[in-house]
Amino acid sequence: MTAPKYVEPSGDQKAGYLHYKRPASPWELFLKEEGVPVYKGIGMKDSRALPREEWARQGGKATYIQLIGTNNATGMYCWELPGRTASKDIKHFYEERFIVIEGRGTTEVWKNGTTAKTSFEWQPWSVFSVPINANFRVVNASSSPAIILAVNMAPRIINMFQSKSFIFDNPYNFEDRFGGNLEDYWKPAEELEVHPVQGRAQLSTNLFPDAQNCYLPLDNNRGPGYRWIYPQMVGNTMLGGFIAEYPQGRYAKAHHHGSGAVLVCMRGSGYSITWPSKEGGLNPWKDGKGDLVMWQDYGEGGMISAAPTGNPNETWFHQHFAVSRGPFRIFNYTGGSSFGGGNVGGQEGDLVAGVGAEIGDGGRAIPYYMEDPFLRKTYEERLGALGVSSTMPEEVYTEAGANIKVISD
Ligand SMILES: [Fe+2]
Repeated sequence: MTAPKYVEPSGDQKAGYLHYKRPASPWELFLKEEGVPVYKGIGMKDSRALPREEWARQGGKATYIQLIGTNNATGMYCWELPGRTASKDIKHFYEERFIVIEGRGTTEVWKNGTTAKTSFEWQPWSVFSVPINANFRVVNASSSPAIILAVNMAPRIINMFQSKSFIFDNPYNFEDRFGGNLEDYWKPAEELEVHPVQGRAQLSTNLFPDAQNCYLPLDNNRGPGYRWIYPQMVGNTMLGGFIAEYPQGRYAKAHHHGSGAVLVCMRGSGYSITWPSKEGGLNPWKDGKGDLVMWQDYGEGGMISAAPTGNPNETWFHQHFAVSRGPFRIFNYTGGSSFGGGNVGGQEGDLVAGVGAEIGDGGRAIPYYMEDPFLRKTYEERLGALGVSSTMPEEVYTEAGANIKVISD
């Protein structure tokens, strides 16, 4: 079909339409062609409960999960490989990472132009990533199904190149990520390092055999007793995020930023709340705006979009609460490997407020003593229903107990 010939407007008339509908992006068209369901929402209690359908491209059954705030940024899917089956041979020019929720098996990974395979075993709560553009095959040798949660950077790459053959049939080997002596490539590492930008804990490992129980060091940035690591895997530059844990009976300080982060629960259970920062302010219930706050309960395999907005100029407060016997462990699964966070349009050397910095100290976190009292009350009620007590230290609810004092004028 040839495009209609353009006719210039006459006089001072404007060309084109004043308002028009955004067309589907290449990623959105790709999703429709995949032939499996696409779940949309702010989160869900357990991703395993979503209906899955046969998936021709990778094998097995799947549902895509496109939470509000992640569209055209990150792709997620919940994937089932029935007992005694294997995936197709897969290769793609985008980064991807997996959390095993159920099942045991192996993954084979090999370079383009070779048949020499590397492989490793996985079990419930293993986390692994496959290097960009490497070939891989996921094998479920057991008799029960395997359920795996994937996240990838497909939307950005598909929207950028708009060429399936470039993305799915490209012979390039990233030797700097998957090259040289591969003998120990899948050997898990345990030695913690310093994150080069934030100074917090980092673990460089291509495989977490059990990310539900692995050691997480003390961090304290989102609350007392908070534990945290940055997982540096297979040389990924776009997929980073973090694995974090709240002790039993504790909750995060609220903080706000733009959309993108999705938290997946890997241990225990809890709930998250989120509200628009400008509209809702610091104390939404006190100010009669409690109806702006969205809530999501979730347990293992469930998730929440921390800042569920499609508007790049909006930031949302969010806050996470452990409601379980034992700790509440979450994975910021869609999180990027940022250049230190903040405004990427700024300049090298710009000062960026860390996640622990509070309002009054150039930060974006609400100290506990400044938060809406409804939060603590509701949290203690939720814990009470479970027969668990709050373990929040009383002093955090005082100005003197805030880890960074508000600068007064
Ligand atoms: Fe956040």
